[in-house]
Amino acid sequence: TLLTLAMILTAYLAGSISSAVLVCRLRGLPDPRSQGSGNPGATNVLRIGGASAAAMVLLFDMLKGALPAYVAFRLGVDAVSLGVIAIAACLGHIFPIFFKFKGGKGVATAFGAMAPIGADLSLALIATWIVMVLICRYSSLAAIVTALLAPAYTWYFDERFTVPVAMLSLLIIIRHKENIHRLLKGEESKVSRKKRTDG
Ligand code: G3P
Repeated sequence: TLLTLAMILTAYLAGSISSAVLVCRLRGLPDPRSQGSGNPGATNVLRIGGASAAAMVLLFDMLKGALPAYVAFRLGVDAVSLGVIAIAACLGHIFPIFFKFKGGKGVATAFGAMAPIGADLSLALIATWIVMVLICRYSSLAAIVTALLAPAYTWYFDERFTVPVAMLSLLIIIRHKENIHRLLKGEESKVSRKKRTDG
């Protein structure tokens, strides 16, 4: 329907607001696209600018997924259209129209889009990601493993949304192609926080 199309477009436009670039600009930090991994996302802002800047990016990027998904959910949009709206938000983040189509990996935005499904699913996803980061220290590998498990968790908690969650997971995993190559070559950078005194 026209409403669904409007929601897809709005989600894409909202997703296109690169909070990593904007937060770094506001804080007088270097552009995340030219530092660290070069990825405009919370992980890389953590490397460049520290925890509070990264938390702002994480929150905003999650909202870009959560708001469109929540609104569509409340309007009773069917599960597959919900998935498409969520994917549109992630595609905005990954290929932002306002930032020369050079965006991030979509992890926070996809997580935000899955959050309205339920607190139990959200907690399972967060716990998986945190445990993986504690074990391996790779944000990318943690995201990939969480994305792989997300459809199974969703099937368990609320099977209506298994297909849209699987669609989001697939997008996230494909987007981590370069990270997967780096992980296999042992060249992936770990999660690290900028120290107050550089050294
Ligand atoms: O959130 C993106 C993460 O999965 C990888 O980020 O900067 O380590 O490539 P980065």
